[in-house]
Amino acid sequence: MRSKSLLVLLATMLLPLPATAQTAAPITAPTELPGVHYASPNNTAASSTARFAVGLSLDSGLTYTATARVTDKISITGKIRPEASHVGMTGNLFVVDFVNGAWTMRNSDGVYVPWNFQIPALVPYKVGVTLGADMPVDVYTGALGTTGNHLIYIGYKPQGGDLYYTPAAKLLTFTQLNATDQAYSMFVANISPNLVQSRCSLCHVKGGIAEAGGASHIFQLPLATSLETNFRIFQNLVTLRGVNYILTKVTGGNGHGGGVQLTSNSVDYKDLSTFLNLVAQDLPPPTMTPDMGSDPYASNPYGYAY
Ligand code: HEC
Repeated sequence: MRSKSLLVLLATMLLPLPATAQTAAPITAPTELPGVHYASPNNTAASSTARFAVGLSLDSGLTYTATARVTDKISITGKIRPEASHVGMTGNLFVVDFVNGAWTMRNSDGVYVPWNFQIPALVPYKVGVTLGADMPVDVYTGALGTTGNHLIYIGYKPQGGDLYYTPAAKLLTFTQLNATDQAYSMFVANISPNLVQSRCSLCHVKGGIAEAGGASHIFQLPLATSLETNFRIFQNLVTLRGVNYILTKVTGGNGHGGGVQLTSNSVDYKDLSTFLNLVAQDLPPPTMTPDMGSDPYASNPYGYAY
């Protein structure tokens, strides 16, 4: 919707002639954008064979997607296929990003700077390149850092000629990490190597005293290669008992068989608390209450495990 009205606005400002590209073969990947416009009031040509494509990839161009998380390492690449008569000429390449309501353009230092939406103020990101049959465009590489919607436009201008650009933007959406993603990265970076390794895994493993004591969470070894399994074990524990019960246990409360593992003002305790609260965010409320004892089956009125 928004891109459409922008397109209309752009069209009225620049008096472009809508082009129907007929002969050029479609660009397969990344996704081709429909249409070509000229930013020249003098241009009387009715069509152009120039083609544009933009795509977002999380795997260096193997596959393309329209959304990514802000922390993902992404590459946004474009392709410009100039008109055959422009191939071999010197020209400039342009990249414009309409992000969260503001126009920006990529300058020749590779930096996105504000653009006032006036063609004369539009600066190229590549200056004086020889136009090839297929020009790769490096729109962005790295982690974007800010969430939001990006509308990516690309274009080229042969020396002395008109600006050719795609009137249809590629919409890319960058989203925040959800709580489970954040919890998992915290588990990998901190909780597993620090807490589980130096404390919990001394007892909460197969054959350890916590297993013998009836603890429900038994970590898989080796820790470094069992991250996903052990993260799931934490998720299950939080689902079963809730955050507070676990935090009480590690401080020696609720008759923890392992005694005091962490004091409530320690950094490790605070990290564990942050981690468990993130884990809990995407989970339903715990199925057992803290006062149900340490045996997960203790609440079973029939006295057997189910
Ligand atoms: C010195 C051994 C020991 C260490 C180290 C230890 N525990 Fe335990 N833990 C036990 C024993 C034994 C039990 C079983 C008796 C009980 O319920 O307290 C247990 C039970 C628990 C329980 C309740 C039972 C369950 O699995 O639902 C939780 C929660 C728990 N431990 C968390 C932890 C965490 C988190 C760590 C690491 C910070 C840890 N423990 C480190 C010995 C230990």
